Amino acid sequence: MEQIIRPRRLRGGETLRKMVRETRISKASLVYPMFVTEGENIKEEIASMPGQFRYSIERMGEKLSELERAGVTNVMFFGIPKRKDAYGSMAYAEDGIAQKAFARAKQEFPNLYFIGDVCMCEYTSHGHCGILCGKEVDNDGTLSYLGKIAVSQAQAGADMVAPSDMMDGRVLAIRQALDANGFSNTPIMAYSAKYASSFYGPFRDAADSAPAFGDRKTYQMDFHNRKEALKEAMLDIKEGADIVMVKPAMAYGDIIWEVKECANVPVASYSVSGEYAMVKSAAANGFIEEEGIMCEMAAAAYRAGSDIYITYYAKELADCIKRGRIG
Ligand code: PBG
Repeated sequence: MEQIIRPRRLRGGETLRKMVRETRISKASLVYPMFVTEGENIKEEIASMPGQFRYSIERMGEKLSELERAGVTNVMFFGIPKRKDAYGSMAYAEDGIAQKAFARAKQEFPNLYFIGDVCMCEYTSHGHCGILCGKEVDNDGTLSYLGKIAVSQAQAGADMVAPSDMMDGRVLAIRQALDANGFSNTPIMAYSAKYASSFYGPFRDAADSAPAFGDRKTYQMDFHNRKEALKEAMLDIKEGADIVMVKPAMAYGDIIWEVKECANVPVASYSVSGEYAMVKSAAANGFIEEEGIMCEMAAAAYRAGSDIYITYYAKELADCIKRGRIG
């Protein structure tokens, strides 16, 4: 049989493969999520996330320098407060942990870009992402708190805010609060399609943010749903989201793709703690090659349509890009 079309022709060597590659990954689009904690001289490893640490303010520079050297310019902070209460008041306190982290980080690393996670679960005594009315998370009652958190983070120096609470109407409430306080140029990256996922398990360990009762299914999305992700993303865009996010990433490539097709704003995906923990533990057992899996997962997220990729592997990925293993 005459073979005119031979797909293998374009796979003949590394240079050619790189030339015809369909997905390109830039270090500029990576975001590193980082845990900052109250206390002094702390760099403590997170048991369920080997290689990831909680840093106290004066030691976070160790990781930030490493990121900067690797070419990772974007960092998202999660604060671990010294005390929690029913209203999550340390989430919007002027001397809250996230606020202190932004102030210090902006001063020491003026060339890095800092994003604030706007949520209440790390700060509430009950571990839910909003304030409670009885045993229910009170949607509308939570909105003004989210606005306050966003404004306090922007005042402390955050370059962008990222609401992850999944209350209805939060993007508009945050936009209005930011604008009213002189932050009309602070972008909002909305966790739009955030699923109620078991992949967040290690994070809740890391941030001590597991709900004290019940679960997050009344506000985070049901993982059986696809169209609903579009509803959430479109709604957030209408409310003023500058970037929309899909989370988790690895098992949700279809959702990233679908949102990317419809959205007229950049799409981010978040490779969450459980994804990282699975790769780490399988690699520690010698079952998989860590770097290869990490690169493949990243490429899959970008191939599905991610413009921005949030990952605990940001530095290692940047190193792989530099070496030409991926990109
Ligand atoms: C806060 C928040 C969570 C994550 C990011 N922001 C946890 C949750 O919703 O329970 C998860 C991140 C990860 O697993 O890496 N609401």
